[in-house]
Amino acid sequence: GSASAGSVPVTAAAPTVETVSKEVTVLFGSQSGKAQGLAKKFSKKLEEQGFQVTLSSMSDFKPNALKKVQNLLVLVSTHGEGVPPDNAISFHDFLHSKRAPQLDGLRYSVLSLGDTSYEFFCQTGKDFDKRLGELGGKQLAPRVDCDVDFDEPAAEWMSSVLSSLSAASASQSVAVSGATASSAAGAESEFSRTNPFEAEVLENLNLNGRGSDRETRHVEISLEGSNLQYEPGDCLGIYPENHPRLVEELIEAMGWDADESVTVNKNGDKRSVRYALTRNFEITVLTKPLLEQIAKLTINTDLNGLVAPGNEQELKSYISGRDLLDLVQDYSLKGIAAGEFIAVLRKMPARLYSIASSSKAFPDEVHVTVRAVRYEARGRERYGVCSVQLAERVKAGEALPVYIQNNPNFKLPENPDTPIIMIGPGTGVAPFRAFLGEREETGAEGKTWLFYGDQHFSTDFLYQIEWQRWLKDGVLTRMDVAFSRDTDQKVYVQHRMLEKSKELYQWLQEGASVYVCGDEKRMAHDVHGTLATIIEQEGGFSSEEAAEYLSRMQQQKRYQRDVY
Ligand code: 2AM
Repeated sequence: GSASAGSVPVTAAAPTVETVSKEVTVLFGSQSGKAQGLAKKFSKKLEEQGFQVTLSSMSDFKPNALKKVQNLLVLVSTHGEGVPPDNAISFHDFLHSKRAPQLDGLRYSVLSLGDTSYEFFCQTGKDFDKRLGELGGKQLAPRVDCDVDFDEPAAEWMSSVLSSLSAASASQSVAVSGATASSAAGAESEFSRTNPFEAEVLENLNLNGRGSDRETRHVEISLEGSNLQYEPGDCLGIYPENHPRLVEELIEAMGWDADESVTVNKNGDKRSVRYALTRNFEITVLTKPLLEQIAKLTINTDLNGLVAPGNEQELKSYISGRDLLDLVQDYSLKGIAAGEFIAVLRKMPARLYSIASSSKAFPDEVHVTVRAVRYEARGRERYGVCSVQLAERVKAGEALPVYIQNNPNFKLPENPDTPIIMIGPGTGVAPFRAFLGEREETGAEGKTWLFYGDQHFSTDFLYQIEWQRWLKDGVLTRMDVAFSRDTDQKVYVQHRMLEKSKELYQWLQEGASVYVCGDEKRMAHDVHGTLATIIEQEGGFSSEEAAEYLSRMQQQKRYQRDVY
């Protein structure tokens, strides 16, 4: 790459230069890889402007080094009910403990990623911001909390951080040595979250047998011509379409003309009301900020009452599980102009699915495993937007807008000899099909152990034939299954793990890495508890020591989770 110092004045270095303030530490805490991706991108930008950047995951950062940091940028997402992502937990705990140092010379700023449809929106970012302030730090720029559509607010945060950093160092002469921003040469795809690839669907099958309560789609998608690359553990982002029936009912309830043209983005692009509600905007989730905006468009006193201060609990319970059609019916919002109303909706977010294929086994293809979400509530069928679209309305030969979301926090061990233990009931098994496909293609020799579970053996054993082939070929060393509804007593994957405690602990002692994918609240939580129990029992540890063992594994990236 060519040397570029950006807008930073380059002069001969005076010996008195305080180079310290050109140093920036960028720490990220990331579960799905988004905060990490942004941290990387911004670090590169800072380097282009002549800053010396230390970029690190919070879990790799020695917290005692914080005392020497002058400029700190924190990029962190929030998980589930307001908890930090796995790789932010220890740093978060440290800062909130008595061991946290006084940070009087520190200047910092926080970018938090989150989702306004969750109650504890951006909680982890808020925690860091507050705590760093309490410890004596001064804000370089105000914290920015991003909703799912984070690109613009994140870029704005970055420019205010940059101008604040540059203002502070502008008075100094700074020598900028050759460009440090190495532009990774080679084939980077032009397609991304903000510019998805229109990918052809090659195959779309139901994996469940007749009579199952479940419908799980195996979807094969062509990446040919996109230059998109992925590794096992990465996710596929898919931009879905809303259900046509919901769109029609909403248009009807509002009394709109489906063909009226409305503005759909900041560029001023126009689409019909029907198209916009189908592809451009989210209509199945209500959030507090959305209701506040809609309330401003109406004189409806009930809705304005609901969003008024003091009614937070009522508002929270109202928005949970309701969609836009519920709202316009419950509050008779008919009459608000389409353009005004649509302008306040959230952009349609992509859905992320753990990739179920190894690109070495299926070049130019990507496979995902998607369970159709359908349930009834308040007298109406409710559908998972993307999952039901895939189940009902996407045929082979059609196109889907997709991109790759790299997930550095769910990766096979670098050493192909390292044993791996994979725990993935239900659709959580998807990435392990990618892991084993990869280990087969690369001839990796490490032992592999899969725990799988679902409701019924006969109808819900996803990819059964493939696991059996891998068992026969030795790619899969062992497999334990738990079918929860074939017996009187429910059996889950963690029960199988407990039955095999001895061997499982033996594998851990041999250096095995543990991967957990699937439901977070119940499954991953219980599996975590079971791992701790096994370590405690088999290793003869106290529960504190077992917890430490697991958090050490997490730090060493030997315990990774992809949970949702
Ligand atoms: P269930 O639906 O019969 O309760 C995949 O969804 C599998 O995960 C199903 O067999 C489901 O069982 C099971 N499951 C539900 N809760 C779980 C938990 N807390 N831990 C592990 N598996 C669970």
